[in-house]
Amino acid sequence: MHIEEFKLERLQSLWENEVEINLTESGIHPYTLRELLDADEIDELLDVRLGYGWTNGEPTLREAIARLYPRAGVDNVLVTNGSAEANFLAMWTLLEPGDEIALMLPNYMQIWGVARALGVEVKPFHLCADAAWRIDLEELEAAVSPRTKMIVVCNPNNPTGAVLSRDEMDAIIEIADRVGAVVYADEVYRGVQLDGEEGPSFHDLYDRAIVAAGLSKALAHPGLRVGWLVGPEPFIADAWHRNDYTTITTALPSEYVATRILEPARRQQILDRNRRMLRENLGLLEDWLASQAQGDPANAWSFTPPQAGGMAFLRYPHRIGSTELATRLRQERSVLVLPGDVYGMDHYLRLGIGEQRETLGKGLTILGDFLATL
Ligand SMILES: Cc1ncc(COP(=O)(O)O)c(C=O)c1O
Repeated sequence: MHIEEFKLERLQSLWENEVEINLTESGIHPYTLRELLDADEIDELLDVRLGYGWTNGEPTLREAIARLYPRAGVDNVLVTNGSAEANFLAMWTLLEPGDEIALMLPNYMQIWGVARALGVEVKPFHLCADAAWRIDLEELEAAVSPRTKMIVVCNPNNPTGAVLSRDEMDAIIEIADRVGAVVYADEVYRGVQLDGEEGPSFHDLYDRAIVAAGLSKALAHPGLRVGWLVGPEPFIADAWHRNDYTTITTALPSEYVATRILEPARRQQILDRNRRMLRENLGLLEDWLASQAQGDPANAWSFTPPQAGGMAFLRYPHRIGSTELATRLRQERSVLVLPGDVYGMDHYLRLGIGEQRETLGKGLTILGDFLATL
């Protein structure tokens, strides 16, 4: 089976550990185990026996996940290795060659690549740059037909940080319902909305919704590799059966830590800390952008601030292409940023704003110095 290169992940895989400053992360600076757990918990973690555990997820972890979704019980939950595995399993479970899906763009391009490799026709609909990343509902209407198996959204969105309004969610559900389609929502950034409102999950609103999420982004712990799928029981059973062919199970020590993270008070504490970091860093970015435009309005970047998530997606005014810009910045200054080209959107950059403030500040100063030489 041919699969096209997943440009975004490939670029990070190759360079994220080679540079001095990595501004390609979309989540928030992670905790260490020592920062996260108290002494008793660290002791308990040391006693976790390293067996296979439960291949659909440790039961108390599945209960903790189910509690996040008012309409879900444990049998609606499958624990996966990151939300990346959740997305892969879901597409492999639901799609057949010749199917049609409608997919939001811009987007984390995993589902785009997997669906096309499976022989699925992918019809895009867009978030509009000139309308503060609001969804083009007319384009969605036109992309959906009785052959549409699912409407795929990433909400909050990677890379724009846009969050669908309740009206937009209702409109998507109405269009899906009309043709009996699934709404598949990657909600891995849900929880760190900057206004403090978590907002509903598609799972709360639609019987045919399937959602993927995990601990990597809003909850700041990608190194645990814990994600999940929440959906109708027959779908979860089918995805579990396919999980026997992929990774069998997640790691028990990760599941132990994940269960602690999802304790309501601790989860809230982590989200509050993350939101605080994002607000401060967004201020830093906005000051930097103002300094870039100073003196010459032609140097102004166009930017709609993210509503959620650890990244900002910006259009820069310079004539250089985004891949060349990112490559030269890495080679000449050891700073890594994501070029808009990985989303098919040249002249944009995605910058991680979930880093520690000092790292972001340093990276922006270097980026500014570099741009001044162009
Ligand atoms: C929208 C989205 N989904 C899924 C993933 C994969 O994340 P993980 O497998 O670490 O949970 C990412 C990573 O950037 C993402 O942005």
